Amino acid sequence: MTASLIDRAEVAGYEALVVTLDTPLPGWRERELQQAALPFYDGHGMANYHTDDAFRDTLSVPPEEDQAVAVQHLLDTFDDPGRTWADLESLAERTDLPLLVKGILHPEDAELAVEHGADGVVVSNHGGRQVDGSVGALTAWPGVFDAVGEDAAVFFDSGVRSGADVVRAVALGADAVLLGRPYVYGLAVGGVDGVEAVLRNLLAELDLTLALSGYAAVDDVDRSAVVERSTAVRR
Ligand SMILES: Cc1cc2nc3c(=O)[nH]c(=O)nc-3n(C[C@H](O)[C@H](O)[C@H](O)COP(=O)(O)O)c2cc1C
Repeated sequence: MTASLIDRAEVAGYEALVVTLDTPLPGWRERELQQAALPFYDGHGMANYHTDDAFRDTLSVPPEEDQAVAVQHLLDTFDDPGRTWADLESLAERTDLPLLVKGILHPEDAELAVEHGADGVVVSNHGGRQVDGSVGALTAWPGVFDAVGEDAAVFFDSGVRSGADVVRAVALGADAVLLGRPYVYGLAVGGVDGVEAVLRNLLAELDLTLALSGYAAVDDVDRSAVVERSTAVRR
């Protein structure tokens, strides 16, 4: 199934694969538990599976005839806490696409990910949805960046809400940032137009923030943009 998804991603023109490492199992999400909310139970969010021959071949009846069978099979196979770093290595060997590992908060994990074939890591605490009270991605950032920033791409995720947040992340060394919820809010409010509006606003604010901070382009932003609290600007 995984092999099939990788092949399809390559054919479809995707430029990287992301393995989410912080979700071997979903966290304890009280609001979702109260509502017994898991989209897969209702057959939502399964298009990648329903359209996949490797997935379909394992089903006794096609999803169009009996969705419950497909849902149950997905639930039986989706989570696998038994995965090891060796699995990451096999993935890296199976594809020419860059492999990113998402959900890294500890420098040692970042080093292990790179050692086992990752081309980059995404520093992320999954927006706080996995371990309640876990360290924030920004707090974890310096340790991870110092550990692997020279050897691998390092991306930032969890809490990016504005163009100024993007500038902050880039100034701290991020090669890119990821957005989780903002575009989904746009989707809920305005569909495709809503997603576009969220992205346009974020990019516009990024442009303005760069200009107002004295930068002509995002590539010009570096660590010198960061002022440590303890160091007043004296000149
Ligand atoms: C409803 C929802 C579903 C998510 N599903 C996934 C997922 O399938 N895989 C994944 O790596 N992250 C998933 N995430 C986490 C986001 O990718 C992201 O790491 C997190 O929301 C933090 O970014 P944000 O603060 O911009 O939302 C999900 C987040 C939300 C809110």
